[in-house]
Amino acid sequence: MQNVFKALELGELNAGSWSADGGWSKDASAPIIESVNPATGELLGRVQTASAADYERIIRSSREVFDKWRMVPAPKRGELVRLVGDELRANKDALGTLVTLEMGKIKPEGDGEVQEMIDIADFAVGQSRMLYGSTMHSERPRHRMYEQWHPLGVVGIISAFNFPVAVWSWNSFLAAICGDVSIWKPSPKTPLTAIAVQRLVNRVLSKHGFPGIFQMFISAGNDLAEKFVDDRRVDLVSFTGSTAVGRKVGERVSARLGKSLLELGGNNAIIVDEFANLDLAVPSIVFGAVGTAGQRCTSTRRVFVHESKARDLEQRLLRAYSQVRIGNPMEKGILMGPLIDKSAVERYQSAIAAAKRDGGTVLCGDKVLPGPGNYVEPTIVRTKHESPIVRTETFGPILYLIEYRNLDDAIAMHNSVDHGLSSAIFTDNMQHAERFLAATGSDCGIANVNIGTSGAEIGGAFGGEKDTGGGRESGSDSWKAYMRRQTNTINWSPELPLAQGIDFKV
Ligand code: UN1
Repeated sequence: MQNVFKALELGELNAGSWSADGGWSKDASAPIIESVNPATGELLGRVQTASAADYERIIRSSREVFDKWRMVPAPKRGELVRLVGDELRANKDALGTLVTLEMGKIKPEGDGEVQEMIDIADFAVGQSRMLYGSTMHSERPRHRMYEQWHPLGVVGIISAFNFPVAVWSWNSFLAAICGDVSIWKPSPKTPLTAIAVQRLVNRVLSKHGFPGIFQMFISAGNDLAEKFVDDRRVDLVSFTGSTAVGRKVGERVSARLGKSLLELGGNNAIIVDEFANLDLAVPSIVFGAVGTAGQRCTSTRRVFVHESKARDLEQRLLRAYSQVRIGNPMEKGILMGPLIDKSAVERYQSAIAAAKRDGGTVLCGDKVLPGPGNYVEPTIVRTKHESPIVRTETFGPILYLIEYRNLDDAIAMHNSVDHGLSSAIFTDNMQHAERFLAATGSDCGIANVNIGTSGAEIGGAFGGEKDTGGGRESGSDSWKAYMRRQTNTINWSPELPLAQGIDFKV
């Protein structure tokens, strides 16, 4: 741990905000928070949260940096992101370890998260040469029409504990190549990873130019968070987190007619039909439901299984679950670490209690393991879809198993929840796969065939519909959310014809 802290320039007490004009804040007026390892309960470090004065300085200097940064050619902006990506490559092991220590996901997943940052850096570098606009044919002679994409401004990024660094990079690297400055407010549950990332970024930018395109502040209360969301100097608020909070963020930002990008929860499901290859389905369900202790927004929470496969799937899942090693996420061979904190454990317990009250049968799990550390057993409940708890997102390793007879019913149940993030079908039947992907099929932002709901690649647009918030981050044309669009018409004729043929001569 000592080496990791040294490599990432972390101490016992760490400044929790950084601005381009003041550097790391020295203002000690706001509360100090603690970062605790959820696997051991030990204190990892303390963080001085940001004061209102720190916040003002960050906003002011972000606007100043933006005025200059927006005029840097996009491929040059990409070059800086490339160098940041290289710094992440060089520090992947240390940062991956810190993610594991602070968030509790197993080390291969901690490293995988840093890999996701590196991948999106590469993606953003390429995109920096492809901020394409369209050209249109004008209805008027000797007129040219086109659209171009300009930098948007200051982008506020509010991220969650479960992907403490990757979600920031999806947003901030694209924002950077688009000519924006980003201000990060990470989860106060994972402050050290954010500070470490800011330190890595600063190393690169202080050497190669433009320190200040990435700024950050850590705050645990609501005051600065609300100020941030309401602040007209923040052009886009990208929020990743719960639907309850995301709804408030969306309402407040739209009240000032600002832009928001919401990536909220999911109640993701897998359909296993009568043609499914269980050799593919079982490991996908286990990774989706047990991986990251069920704390991904893409985690698999519901499985609809055709009655002809139900017993077989159940047996195979039970065998697989009994082999899942739970324990310290730094240890080799461990597949499931702890939940983030005690209240997550309580939510796990009360969800299972509710499922039982609704008539569900617990097939395995339903156990809180002795501490230290917030360990629980991954749980499978055989139940009916009418059970209200099945229709809500519980951020933990609980899987609801539901039998069906006909695919149309399964798809109807699948779509009957509030969220619409990720979904999958396991089938070797082409008609069933296409039925699932059709306009009348899955209503989610992500729909897969023969791969699970979680672990999406960065190249696709990431996000979903309904209570998931509608935003898209990461790949495809998600970059457009970080720019403002402008339509341009140029008249190179000696006449002034009006559109729609209107005659307006004086
Ligand atoms: C999240 O849980 O907020 O698709 C993001 C996945 C990851 C990202 C999850 N690439 O599971």
